[in-house]
Amino acid sequence: MLFKSPRGTRDIFFEDSQKFEYVTKILTEQARLFGFTRARTPVFEYEELFRRTSGDDSEVVQKEMYTFEDRSQRKLALRPEGTAGIARAVIQEGLLSRKTLPLNIFYILPCYRYERPQLGRYREFTQFGVEVLGTYSYLADAQIILLAESIFRRLSISDRTVLKINSIGCDECRKKYILALRSFFAKSNNLFCPDCVSRIETNPLRVLDCKHEECRAALEDAPSIIDFLCKDCSENFSKVRSCLDFSGVNYIVDPKIVRGLDYYNGVVFEIQLKSSSDSSLALCGGGRYNGLMVKIGGTPTGALGFGIGIDRLISVMEASEVPMVKEPCVDLFIAYAAEKEANLCFCLVKKLLDRGIHAAMDVANRTLNAQFKYSKKLNSRYLLVLGEKEFTSGKARIEGTESNSSFDVSLDEYFADQVEKILGSAKSGQI
Ligand code: HAM
Repeated sequence: MLFKSPRGTRDIFFEDSQKFEYVTKILTEQARLFGFTRARTPVFEYEELFRRTSGDDSEVVQKEMYTFEDRSQRKLALRPEGTAGIARAVIQEGLLSRKTLPLNIFYILPCYRYERPQLGRYREFTQFGVEVLGTYSYLADAQIILLAESIFRRLSISDRTVLKINSIGCDECRKKYILALRSFFAKSNNLFCPDCVSRIETNPLRVLDCKHEECRAALEDAPSIIDFLCKDCSENFSKVRSCLDFSGVNYIVDPKIVRGLDYYNGVVFEIQLKSSSDSSLALCGGGRYNGLMVKIGGTPTGALGFGIGIDRLISVMEASEVPMVKEPCVDLFIAYAAEKEANLCFCLVKKLLDRGIHAAMDVANRTLNAQFKYSKKLNSRYLLVLGEKEFTSGKARIEGTESNSSFDVSLDEYFADQVEKILGSAKSGQI
C-alpha cells in the first residue's frame, strides 16, 4: 500500500524549504531587533486550556481542534495556536515574578486546525508569534503593531497588504455592544447560518467572524463597536492611533475586526491582503488579551501579541515574485582522480568547511569526468583537481570556472588561508 500525506498537510523540500528558512530568518531577526527572545512549548496541551482561552464558541474549539485521549484517558489537543501555551508556561514557570517585565517572547511553532484546506489554509501550518506580558501601556500596543508592520516591509509585501486596526473595548463596552447586536440580530435572525443562530444566543460577537458568505452579507448594517467604547477605551485607542500616525504607519480603522478567539479585549488588528477582506485568510492577527491569564489561574496581567502564518506569507511572497531562494552555489569543488586521493580530498574539504567556506566533493563513487559534470551542476565557482602529481608534490592549482583565473596553492596547514584569500569576502552558500 502506498501512503499519502494526510489532507491539509504538506511535504516541503528543496526551494520550498529554502523559502521557509529565508522567511524564518527574517522573522527571527526582526523579533530580536525589537528585543524578543524565542520560546518553545509542547505541541500538545490539555484540551481544556484551549477551551478556556479561545472560548467554547470559537470556530477553533467548536470545529477545528485535533483532540485525542492519551493512554491514561487525559483529554489533550494539538495546539491550534501559540498564545495559550505561552501563557500557561509563563504562569507555570513563575516568569512574571522572576524576570524583568514586560516579557517579550516570540515563537515559531507548527499549529493544527481541522479547516477546509485551500491555498494558504492548511491543517498543519507554522505560526510565528510574539507575546508581550506584563504591561498595560498603549505604547506596547503601538510597538507590536510597529513590529508586525516592519516585518511586512522587510519581506517586501507591504504594498500588497493593509493593516486594519480596531478596539473591541473592555467587558463593559462589550456588554453594551452585545445588547445592541442582539437587537440587530432579532430583526435579521433568519439571514444567518444555523451555527450563527445559536451563537446569537451564546456569544453574539462570534457571529462577526463567521466565514459564511450569507452571514457576512447580513452583517453589513450591524452596529459598530467603536460607537460603544467607554471613555478609557476610546482614549486608549486614540493614543495607540496617534502613536502610529506620528511614526508614519499606514492603517485603516475597521470596526469589523473582532478576532476569532475569545481572549481579546482593547486594541486588535489584522494585516490582510489588499485584494481580500476575508478575515479568515488574514496574514497576521493579534491584539490585547488582558483577561487571559486570570482565566487559566494566573494573576491579572496586561498582555498582547500577534500571530503570522508563515505558509501564507510565503504564498503571497511567491505571488509577488519576491526572491527567497538563492541559486545554490559552491565556492570550491575538489575533485579526486582515484580513491588514493579521496582521504586527502576529504580532509581539505573539512578544513574549508570549518572556515565557513562552502566546499564540496563527490561522495557517490563518480569517475573524474562525472565529478567535473557534477561540479557544474553545483555551480561551483572554483575547481581543484587532486591527482597523483598533486598528491606527491603537495601543490595544486585552483581554477576559476567562469573566469580564466588560476591560483597555485600548497596542500598544507596554510591551505584554508590561501583559499580564503582567493575567494575574497564573497563566500557563497548561505542565503
Ligand atoms: P489567528 O488569527 O487565529 O490568531 O492566527 C494567526 C495567523 O495564523 C493568521 O493570521 C494566519 O496567517 C495563520 N493561520 C491561521 N490558521 C491557519 C491555517 N489553517 N493555515 C495557515 N495559516 C493559518 C492566533 O492564532 C493568535 N494566537 C494570534 C495572537 C498572538 N494573538 C495574540 N497573540
